[in-house]
Amino acid sequence: MSGVTDDERAWWKEAVVYQVYPKSFADSDGDGVGDLGGVIDRVDYIDELGVDAVWLNPVYESPQADNGYDIADYRAIDDAYGDMEDWERLRDELHERDVRLIMDLVVNHTSDEHEWFRKSRREDGEYADYYHWVEGEPDELPNDWESVFGGSAWSWDDEREAWYLHLFDEKQPDLNWANPDVREAVYDMMEWWLGKGIDGFRMDVINMISKAEDYPDGGPDSDGAEHFMNGPRVHEYVGEMVEEVLDDESVLAVGETPGVSVDDAREYVSEDGDGLSMLFQFEHVTFDHGEHKFDADDPDLVEFKEILAKWQEGLADDGWNSLYLNNHDQPRMVSRFGSDGEYRRKSAKLLGTLTHTLGGTPFVYQGEEIGMTNAPFETREALRDVEVRNYVASAVDDAEGHADAYEDVREAVEAMSRDNARTPMQWTDEAHAGFTDGDPWIDANPNYAEVNVSRARDDPDSVLHYYRDLVALRERDLLVYGDFELLAPDDPDLFAYTRTLAGGDDESTERALVVLNFDDEPTTFEVPADVTVDGLELALANDDAPAVPGRALDLGPWEARVYLTPDPEAQAPDSAIDTER
Ligand code: GLC
Repeated sequence: MSGVTDDERAWWKEAVVYQVYPKSFADSDGDGVGDLGGVIDRVDYIDELGVDAVWLNPVYESPQADNGYDIADYRAIDDAYGDMEDWERLRDELHERDVRLIMDLVVNHTSDEHEWFRKSRREDGEYADYYHWVEGEPDELPNDWESVFGGSAWSWDDEREAWYLHLFDEKQPDLNWANPDVREAVYDMMEWWLGKGIDGFRMDVINMISKAEDYPDGGPDSDGAEHFMNGPRVHEYVGEMVEEVLDDESVLAVGETPGVSVDDAREYVSEDGDGLSMLFQFEHVTFDHGEHKFDADDPDLVEFKEILAKWQEGLADDGWNSLYLNNHDQPRMVSRFGSDGEYRRKSAKLLGTLTHTLGGTPFVYQGEEIGMTNAPFETREALRDVEVRNYVASAVDDAEGHADAYEDVREAVEAMSRDNARTPMQWTDEAHAGFTDGDPWIDANPNYAEVNVSRARDDPDSVLHYYRDLVALRERDLLVYGDFELLAPDDPDLFAYTRTLAGGDDESTERALVVLNFDDEPTTFEVPADVTVDGLELALANDDAPAVPGRALDLGPWEARVYLTPDPEAQAPDSAIDTER
C-alpha cells in the first residue's frame, strides 16, 4: 500500500476524462451533424481507451450561435443531437461500462431565445431582472467592456429599449447572478440533472458570473476584464452553489476559469475554498498569445515548463490540477506544442506522456488519441466558428481594398482558430473521414486518409495504442498523487521531472523519472546528481530505449521515456509492462 490516505483519494483524481464534442464526433443520421446516436455507436471505442469518464460538450436545445454554448432550454436536447431518450441511453451505455458522464453547465449566459430572456426583454414580472440591463440612449454604450468574440459587450434591445450585457456573442446575454431568483433557478436545474444520474459538471466560464456593480469602465488598455473575471461576488456565488447543490463529494465539479492565477485558483479549489474539484486554468495555453490570440508566437519551452511547474507546485498540498493541452476551444496540441510533419506520431505520444504523468486529472480531447492535427482553411467560407469569423471580418475590413486580405490572416487562422479542434473526428479513410454519410457541417481535415482510427487500430505502433498504455499507467498512485519536481528548468529542449510518493508503513518510496525531448534534433539529458536512477525501470517510451536508465540519456527527436520503480501493488514484479514502444 502506498501512503495515500482515503481522505486524499477521490475517483476524479484517479480518472482520465475523455472529452466528446458531439457536433464533430459521429453522425448517425446522415444530416452532416454529429449526434448522440453517433456517440452511442462509439461507446465501446471510448471504453476501450480505458478512460473513466466522458465530458460531453453542450447538447441542449440551442440556436447554435456558439455551437450549443447558447442554450435556449437547459432541460431539453437539441433536435440536431437527438432527444432525451437518446441521452438516457447514452448515460446508461456509459454507466454499464463504468464510465461516468460529466455534463457541460453553461450558466454565465443563456441564448437570447431562452424563455427567461424573452420574458426579461418584455419586463415580465420576476424575469425583468434576470439579465444585466442598462437604460440609456441607443448611441451611447454603457461602458467600454469588450466581448470575448470582439466588439462591444453591450447590445441595444429595441423591444425593451435598453442595453443588455453579453460577454460573448450578442445572442448570449449574461445572466444576472446578483438576483437570487436567477441563482435558485440555476440550482434547480442542476439538481434536476443530478437527479438524472450524471456524475459531474464542467462549468463554463464560471469565474465570469459576477460583474462589478454599476459597470465601471475598464482601466487603460483593458477590455474591462478586471470587472468581470473573478468578480467581486464570485466566491459567494460559487460557494453557495456548491453548498446548495454539490455537497456530495463524489460529484466532479471542474470550473473553466480563464485568466486565473494560482492564488485565485486556491480560492476555488483548496480545502478552505469554494469547493470545486479542479479548474481549467489558461496560463499554459495563452502565454504564447500576443496582443490577441491570433497574434501568437511559437511557444517557448522554458516558459511553458515554468508555468506548468508553478501550477504543479502551487496546488500540490491543497487543491488539484486538471491536465490538458487542447480542447474544443484550442488548436490541436500536436500542431501547437509538437511537430505535426515527420514527427507527428512521436510528438503526439510525447505530449500525451506529459499530460498523463504530471499531477492532476488528464483530459483527452477527441482525436488527440490518434494524433489529429490543425487543418487547412483555404477560404474564409470554410470557417464556421463565430470567434474566427469575427476576427477575419475585422481584419479584412481593416484591410479594405486589399484583394488578398484573407491570405494575410490565413496563417494565423490556421494556427489558432477553434475550428481546428472542430473538424470531424477521423474514423476511417472513407469520404468525410467516416464521420457522416451526408455533407458535414465543417469539412474534414484532408489528412484523414492517413490519420484515422481504423488505421491506428491495426497498427501496434500507433498513437492510439500508446494512449491506452498511458491511460493504464494512471493506475499507479505514484503518477496520480506523487510529488512533482522539475529538472533542468533552463534547458530549451528538454522537459524532465521526477514524481515521488512516500510509502506506507511497509513500503519504500516510489519514484518516477520522465524525460521528454521537445525538439527535432537528438539531445542528451545528464540526470542531475541528486536524482537516484537505481531501481528505475522503463515503463513506457515512444521509441526503442534501454530498460534501465544510466546517468546520461541519449534521446532522439521527440523521444519520450517514463521510468518507474516497480509497482508495489503488482502481483508479479515484472508484470506485463510493455517496453516495446
Ligand atoms: C467557453 C466555451 C466556449 C464558449 C464560451 C462561451 O469558453 O468553452 O466554447 O464559446 O465559453 O460559452
